[in-house]
Amino acid sequence: MKKAFVRSYGCQMNAYDAARMADVLGQQGYAATDSVEEADVVVLNTCHIREKAAEKVYSELGRLRVLKGERRLAGLDTRIVVAGCVAQAEGAEMLARAPAVDVVVGPQSYHRLPQLLDASRAKRVVDTEFPIEDKFDHLPARRNKGVSAFLTVQEGCDKFCAFCVVPYTRGAEVSRSVAAVVAEAEKLAEAGVRELTLIGQNVNAYHGAGPAGVAATLPDLMRAVAGIPGLARIRYTTSHPNDMGDDLIAAHAEIPALMPYLHLPVQSGSDRVLGAMNRKHTGDQYRRLIERIRTARPDIALSSDFIVGFPGETDAEFEETMRLVAEIGFQSAFSFKYSPRPGTPAAERADAVPEGVKSERLAALQARLDAQRHAYQRAAAGRVAEVLVEKPGRRPGQVTGKTPHMLAVQFDAPASTIGSLVPVRIVEAGANSLFGEMLPQVAAA
Ligand code: 5AD
Ligand code: SF4
Repeated sequence: MKKAFVRSYGCQMNAYDAARMADVLGQQGYAATDSVEEADVVVLNTCHIREKAAEKVYSELGRLRVLKGERRLAGLDTRIVVAGCVAQAEGAEMLARAPAVDVVVGPQSYHRLPQLLDASRAKRVVDTEFPIEDKFDHLPARRNKGVSAFLTVQEGCDKFCAFCVVPYTRGAEVSRSVAAVVAEAEKLAEAGVRELTLIGQNVNAYHGAGPAGVAATLPDLMRAVAGIPGLARIRYTTSHPNDMGDDLIAAHAEIPALMPYLHLPVQSGSDRVLGAMNRKHTGDQYRRLIERIRTARPDIALSSDFIVGFPGETDAEFEETMRLVAEIGFQSAFSFKYSPRPGTPAAERADAVPEGVKSERLAALQARLDAQRHAYQRAAAGRVAEVLVEKPGRRPGQVTGKTPHMLAVQFDAPASTIGSLVPVRIVEAGANSLFGEMLPQVAAA
């Protein structure tokens, strides 16, 4: 049987796309493999967000070139596909710089993978179009769904933050229709999925076609999905503060399946830096927004993204970020050193912050964020939470799952609990996960 190796980098949307590419290849008779050496098709689903992303892909392709040569000597063909945002950004340049590559395909065209692979046997191909047709209409049924699944409901971004490549690589905001999302969600639920994370680069700007042709908002979509039998939990990511409408805030109080967790990137605590980033909100606007969200859902756990060392950021401005972090009390967060992305406005700036300063700021920020995360976990000890059991745990006899607030918990329980919601007392907080004990299920009164 032919085999396909698919590796994904970066965001959850890329993970979703990679899984769908594996589905497309599966339909073509390729079995999934974790071993690149035995793969007849290798797909690198690349991410352009991280530093030197393109360079890292090129060096990976250098290694694959050697592997491809070895396999050829053994009489085996290897097709090398570069997909994702680096593929979109580099396009034909990739064929010139990486001789091993057979197919370059952007995030909007990967449903055409079978045709592109066929065509590549005659001539190397690039497809970085934003086609009129909807790729979702051309993808086969999903496999390997598990208990918790992602579902892409929106793609692209119109925000144009000064540091970010997404509006260029993923294009303008597009939302799938409520009917399309519900149909995919129903299939997932039938296959045993209990938790669905609705994903999009700017998911809270969702505005898909609803019933009767009226545009639906994210809360409308969540209500439609929440009614699907079997689905117990809904999450969504990632959001922009300016798209947190009143109805979405209210949804956190009103939709029981919507979990009390919100990833809401703020990037910086300094109004001058936020302005330079083209974020179109201030630190105080973010604070007030969080207050309103906490009024609707007092126990909500918050997460965020931060960039330190944006061009021109002073020590005092960085301290404003530290202050905001202390005030909000994030449960978890991602933080990055700014690094320029070619083609973005910030990359043109001449006032770069020295690398050493960026590193110091990142270390200070991460130390504070880590301390907050640990404090949050310690505070969970002793409490009882409803855990959705997702998979076997690290040790035999253990399973692992997540609380509504996204804390991972390991505990002793039979594998037959996978897929159910069980009450667990958190006993102890480890470095990265919590340990708990399952309580007897109390029959509903
Ligand atoms: N430099 C550093 N971090 C970046 N991000 C996006 N672009 C850059 C960049 N040029 C971060 C932002 C965003 C997250 C997904 O990646 O914090 O929210
Ligand atoms: Fe990038 Fe800003 Fe859009 Fe997020 S909101 S994807 S950071 S441009």
